[in-house]
Amino acid sequence: MSAGTVQLREPIDSDFELIFAMRQDPVGNAMSMVYPLSRDKFEVRWNRTPESPHEVARIILFDGVVVGKIASFVAEDAVCVGYLIAQDHWGKGIATQALRMFIDLFEHRPLIAHAAKSNIGSCRVLEKCGFVKVDERDSPETERYMACVEVIYELR
Ligand SMILES: CC(C)(COP(=O)(O)OP(=O)(O)OC[C@H]1O[C@@H](n2cnc3c(N)ncnc32)[C@H](O)[C@@H]1OP(=O)(O)O)[C@@H](O)C(=O)NCCC(=O)NCCS
Repeated sequence: MSAGTVQLREPIDSDFELIFAMRQDPVGNAMSMVYPLSRDKFEVRWNRTPESPHEVARIILFDGVVVGKIASFVAEDAVCVGYLIAQDHWGKGIATQALRMFIDLFEHRPLIAHAAKSNIGSCRVLEKCGFVKVDERDSPETERYMACVEVIYELR
């Protein structure tokens, strides 16, 4: 566990390349069971205007350096949260700190999170932040996601 400082701030244009590179990391994608996004698709998502006040994105800084992203979004009529950290910075407690900060600033409840059951790190991050497992299901392969057993967590 590192003693660095975690901060959240709103995304800016110059974050694009760093976050795109993180989103292409095959090891990270295998953990979260997602397929890489084409640059075009990522760019469309990056530039789209939020359709709901429940869509809030923050860049994660560690000692002032961009190391990840955390965001809320709406899926299956529920308000969800997702995050990713650059592989160079895994294991420093950053995701846990960032999620704690995010749930302080984003007060909507219940807040849902989906994690592949095999993603032990993400499940642990959620549990450390007070999320409780509410369901487990077989999630089919889609254009965006790999087939997996998915755990659904809720923060009340
Ligand atoms: C999952 C992820 C967010 C974890 O980020 P992180 O900053 O390394 O997590 P933390 O350092 O806060 O770790 C929190 C806990 O999880 C554990 N953990 C983290 N990664 C782990 C791993 N790969 N295997 C086992 N445990 C792990 C840590 O040991 C820690 O537990 P502890 O406090 O009991 O020791 C990061 O690996 C990542 O971005 N992965 C790719 C994208 C992804 O999976 N996003 C989530 C989609 S649901």
